[in-house]
Amino acid sequence: MKSFYITTPIYYPSAKLHIGHAYCTTIADAVARFHRLLNEDVFFLTGSDEHGQKIEDTAKAAGVTPIEYVDNIVAGFQKLWERLSISNDDFLRTTEERHHKVVQEIFKRIYDKGDIYKGEYKGLYCTPCESYWTEHQLKDGCCPDCGRPVKEVAEEAYFFKLSNYADRILEHIENNPEFIEPTSRRNEMINFIKQGLEDLCISRTSFDWGIPVPIDEKHVVYVWFDALTNYLTPIGFLDDPEKFKKFWPCDIHLVGKEIVRFHSIIWPAILMALDLPLPKQVYGHGWLVVSGDKMSKSKGNVIDPMLLIDEFGADAIRYFLLREIQLGQDGNFSRDALITRINSDLANDLGNLLHRTLNMIGKFQNKKIYLPKVERAEDVSLINDAKETINFYREAMGNMNISEAVKKVWAFVARANKYIDETRPWALAKDETKKDELSATLYNLAASLRLISVLIEPYMPTTAEKIWNQLGLKDFANAKLSDAENFDGIADGHEVGAPEQLFPRIEIEETENKEPAKQNKKDAKKGEKKSAQKTEKSDEDNSEISFEDFSKIHLRVVKVLDAEPVPNTEKLLRLTVDLGGEKREIVSGIAKHYAPNDLIGKNVVMVINLKPAKIRGIVSHGMVLAASNGNDMELITSDLPIGSEVK
Ligand code: MSP
Repeated sequence: MKSFYITTPIYYPSAKLHIGHAYCTTIADAVARFHRLLNEDVFFLTGSDEHGQKIEDTAKAAGVTPIEYVDNIVAGFQKLWERLSISNDDFLRTTEERHHKVVQEIFKRIYDKGDIYKGEYKGLYCTPCESYWTEHQLKDGCCPDCGRPVKEVAEEAYFFKLSNYADRILEHIENNPEFIEPTSRRNEMINFIKQGLEDLCISRTSFDWGIPVPIDEKHVVYVWFDALTNYLTPIGFLDDPEKFKKFWPCDIHLVGKEIVRFHSIIWPAILMALDLPLPKQVYGHGWLVVSGDKMSKSKGNVIDPMLLIDEFGADAIRYFLLREIQLGQDGNFSRDALITRINSDLANDLGNLLHRTLNMIGKFQNKKIYLPKVERAEDVSLINDAKETINFYREAMGNMNISEAVKKVWAFVARANKYIDETRPWALAKDETKKDELSATLYNLAASLRLISVLIEPYMPTTAEKIWNQLGLKDFANAKLSDAENFDGIADGHEVGAPEQLFPRIEIEETENKEPAKQNKKDAKKGEKKSAQKTEKSDEDNSEISFEDFSKIHLRVVKVLDAEPVPNTEKLLRLTVDLGGEKREIVSGIAKHYAPNDLIGKNVVMVINLKPAKIRGIVSHGMVLAASNGNDMELITSDLPIGSEVK
């Protein structure tokens, strides 16, 4: 059985993870799942990088010990990966004993070999990136990676003879074009090495939060030396030679573009010093940006993936990330683009295909399908397209062209929808002489959905399984790509299940004002259904709701950053609010009670998981709460920090 080993970077638990981190892990997960579909023995590793000065400083500022601090944040990482259906085989925390042993052993081996020596480090350090820089590498006097100020450090330190390996690393990169992908990153690394590599400082004495240097306990191991070796820990480097042989060298280290340097220069040098083979590939993906800007707390544009999952579900988020962004390039995240994709690709294209197919099989053939007895030109064309889709998918996924593979699968979804229109099963059902044609159409549609279910498993595992189960098929966990290749693999006379909705459409209703008391006159014209619903609602006013119902409403303290009137309205204000890292726009019917300037800087309470609604052409992503007696209205405010929960 072929083996496949893929890793994500181990994330710093200095803060909660944002959607950019979720992007990286989702890609790795899709690739791992694809290789499992190929029936390979896959090991997929992620984890947390818990030592270093930044974590020690952050914990101190929070008034807790470093381990208390990281325990809490790392539990959040693990919860996020579970909710995002991440299928990692191990989660490595650098604070674990098994990892300490590996780091200390590696340090000792390289020291004994003579590639580590003691000296004095005098230079510049970026604490957020945990990176050493020389004067000429700085950009405008600041860290070239994150743009933040660097500080001078001078301390006794151990050095790794990185410079000894520069020629061998350069040669390796030049002789192995697939070692660093994409090519743009490869070229950057070649230039970086050609400017000369200095020996790397690999120990610190000015703080304690790290793994002690085995030969000199007043030093702790430099956090990147500690972190990079994580890739060896869980695959049996010290304790399971067989497992180690199976999974090392690693197939892909998937990392963000700014840390390709650590993985394609420093890490290979460490491995060379250990006489270990180099990873087959370091893939540097681009950044997920929001309106062109990198996410950061200070810019207030950080997007919390947990909230997105609460609102839209994990599969929709995964689909968006994998489809919308070309791997290797930076890509933009926007809620509106996400909603558009959910409505068009998921609810409409995929959801309708499944629904129409199962409905017709139920209605016309009592839920049964039969192996085709006829073959028309439309069938041949559909089956050829299916084969072509699988071939393209296999090649594209194998080459990390993930968004292209996703697009191809959706082209096949569209193709299958078109096949329904071409073969017109509803018309065939009216003609007794066309029974075989009808039966062939329904079989081929079910077969297409079976294929689609397997192909989308790496992108949307929960949806894939739902489709499989609705088709009445068994044992999805063991489905492989080879099953999908067998187009007519469903047995003659098979019975399908009943259709259930996969993705509800996200309605962004065009509404005038959300104040329930004063329904706008225009709304009254919109039909009786709406007013009937209103009556039903008011009848329900006194009914009790469960605590579970109440807890579905996420209330948070947010700060109003900006407020302005919505043109041509009397009641509406457009507010920009800060949720504690994330900025949102909302429209609120409070203009008669508050002037925009009175609102700016106020901390108010907001429902943050309300379905978006379009109000006067502006998409409103939430609602602020106010008390009202019919005449006066007062916003609910709080002096607690932004992001505080209201329960
Ligand atoms: N701890 C180191 C990695 C050590 S690996 C041996 C680290 N951690 S990090 O938490 O700062 O970043 C982890 C990864 O998240 C990096 O690959 C980084 O590129 C990625 N991302 C951080 N913000 C991102 C986006 N906005 N978009 C995409 N990826 C992003 O570096």
